[in-house]
Order: sequence, then C-alpha cells, then structure tokens
Amino acid sequence: MSKLVEVKNLCVDYITFNGRVRAVSDVSFHINQGEILGLAGESGCGKSTIAYSLMRLHRPPALISEGSIEFEGRDVLAMDDDQLREFRWKETSMVFQSAMNCLNPVKTIEYQFWDIFDAHGLVSSRDESIEKAKELLRIVDIPTERLFDYPHQFSGGMRQRVVIAMALALKPKLLIMDEPTTALDVVVQREILQKVYQLKEQFGFSILFITHDLSLMVELCDRIGIMYSGKLVELAPAKQILSQPLHPYAHGLGDSFPTLHGELQEMKGIPGTPLDLQNVPPGCRFAPRCFKATAACREQEPQLLQANEQRWVACLEPLKIASQAQQPEPLTQSHSEPSETTCAEAL
Ligand SMILES: Nc1ncnc2c1ncn2[C@@H]1O[C@H](COP(=O)(O)OP(=O)(O)OP(=O)(O)O)[C@@H](O)[C@H]1O
Ligand code: SF4
Ligand SMILES: [Mg+2]
Repeated sequence: MSKLVEVKNLCVDYITFNGRVRAVSDVSFHINQGEILGLAGESGCGKSTIAYSLMRLHRPPALISEGSIEFEGRDVLAMDDDQLREFRWKETSMVFQSAMNCLNPVKTIEYQFWDIFDAHGLVSSRDESIEKAKELLRIVDIPTERLFDYPHQFSGGMRQRVVIAMALALKPKLLIMDEPTTALDVVVQREILQKVYQLKEQFGFSILFITHDLSLMVELCDRIGIMYSGKLVELAPAKQILSQPLHPYAHGLGDSFPTLHGELQEMKGIPGTPLDLQNVPPGCRFAPRCFKATAACREQEPQLLQANEQRWVACLEPLKIASQAQQPEPLTQSHSEPSETTCAEAL
C-alpha cells in the first residue's frame, strides 16, 4: 500500500500568556491509501491539534514549530494560500469535532452546498449545484426534498450526515473525522459509521478517525495510534492494540473497557490525571500513572521504536507479548537522544 500522508516529528505549540504549551510533541505516523487510521487518547492529548495541522487549519496561538507533513509527497507546510485553497476540501476534508454546529442556522442546506461548489468553481449554475447536492444527499440516505430545509429542521443524526456529505462534496482523498458522532445515540452512531465505511469502500478514500469510543475504533480502523500528553505512545493494528497492548497506557485503556464476553471483570481504569503540559517532568510522561515505572523511566524519555513489522511503541519497559521482539528501529529520527534501553531488550 502506498503512503498518502506522512507526518514526521511533528511538534505543535500554543503560545499562551503563561508560556509555550507543546500540545503535540515529536509525533510521527503515516496513513496509507484507502486505510482507516484511528487516533485515541485522553481529552487534551493533542488529537484535534494534529487533525487541524494536517489541513493547516491551525490559527494563532497555535504554531507548528517542528516537523513535516507530506501529502502524496507534497510538502503541506510549504503550500501557499492558492495551493491550500486547492488542497483543502479537494484532497483533504474534515468533519469537525462539533460537526452539528458547523451548519449555518440561517441558511438552507441547499445554500450551504451551493456555497461549497461555488467557492471551488465546480458548478456554473444554481441548478447544477442543486443536482450535485441531491446526489450527495442520496449517498448519505437523506431524502432529496429535504435539501431546501434549514439545519434546525433536521435531527442530530441527519445533520451529521449532511456534514459528512459536504465533506465528501469534492471527493477528497483523505477524510478527517474528529469525534464525528459523539453527541449521537449508539444506534445512529453505528449507522453513520457503517455508511462512512461503505463510502470509503466505494470511493477508496483514506480516513483519520478520532474518537474516545474504543469499541467503534477497533471495529472501524485498520490501525490505531494511542496518544498520551502530546506524544504518540503506541501504533498497532486495530485488533491487537487492546488485546495485546505493548504500552502500559494502552493496557490501562483496555482495562477501562467493558467486555460482554467471558467472566464478569472489574474495570480497573487508570489511576491519576493527565499531565499539565506546562510542567512536563523529565523522563516518561506516563511514569506518574504507570504500574511498571522504574527509576530509569523518570529520567529517560522513551522514543517511539519499531517493535515488530507492524507495531511501534514508546516505552522503556513494554509489556511482553509472545515472540514479538525484533531489532528495534526508530520510526523517524527523533529530536531527543535515543534511549539506551531499547524496546526489544525490554521485551
Ligand atoms: N487555542 C488554544 N490555546 C491554548 N491551548 C490550547 C488551545 N487549543 C488547544 N489547546 C491545548 O492543547 C492541548 C491539546 O488540545 P486538543 O484539542 O488537540 O486535544 P484533544 O486530544 O483533541 O482533546 P479532546 O479529546 O478533548 O477533543 C490541550 O492541552 C489544550 O488545552
Ligand atoms: S517508559 Fe516506564 S513509565 Fe513510561 S510507560 Fe514505559 S514502563 Fe511506564
Ligand atoms: Mg479534540
């Protein structure tokens, strides 16, 4: 599979009155053509900041201070305004975290589709815009006669479908979905995501899927990245990340997750609270909450290292899983010095 997006050593800061907050720290990953990559992690760990950075939608006080983002080999961080206008929505589009509030309450849905098509010079008349908009509504199973309604006349689930239809309007190669169904009930959530999956199969786009719902994520995604306090701490095939976690934080997430099968088990959760990003201590950021922490963990910052062909982990003492160890390789060159204890040694 060829790479669509490649992010290397991405660092994003927010410049606040109280100083610089590094919300995303040295994050590297890629998304293949047609792949669904999930990003999970506690609130405030930097997921939306990454999503905004991929489309260069971040605004001051946010600043991409280090790293690179490539889209089909093109440098997204070097694009000028004209190139960005072409890039956004045509190549990468986004369903925002508060998608239901993205619609303009005083304009009909028809007008909002027209706005998109017109801005990108895709149609030569209003009638053509209406035909294209109806086509998109059909794709997300909304009756076409609803095109002339206002957002308040739709249910939450329908508004969400409209927003997804708009995000697909220019047939992007990457769809970023930042908690696209958070405010919806589980049945509607599932219906919408099944629809998105069908569309992905039909049109072949890739998806970056951000959610707190790990069960949805495991079902939908090919691979999942787990973030903690601005760092990517594990990247693995979706089916393995909870059943065979390598990072203690991923293990804790799995333990916080109810199962309907087997014996009744107490959910353990993860003790403690996330780090204050303005006071990041030396060593591993997860150490104050980690059941495997050693003295070395409080001094040395672990890098994301390759544990086997498909898995990367940033931990000095990764959890053991059978015969997974291989010679580690850094995913990319890190800004910090490599640690002496390697991933494979610890395995
Ligand atoms: N405009 C801003 N100014 C200052 N700090 C910000 C700003 N936006 C985000 N942050 C900080 O950056 C960090 C990452 O925020 P981000 O929104 O990316 O997290 P998230 O993982 O998407 O969280 P959630 O799951 O709650 O959506 C947080 O600590 C947040 O407080
Ligand atoms: S490096 Fe140490 S503290 Fe950090 S997750 Fe691994 S074992 Fe825990
Ligand atoms: Mg967010």
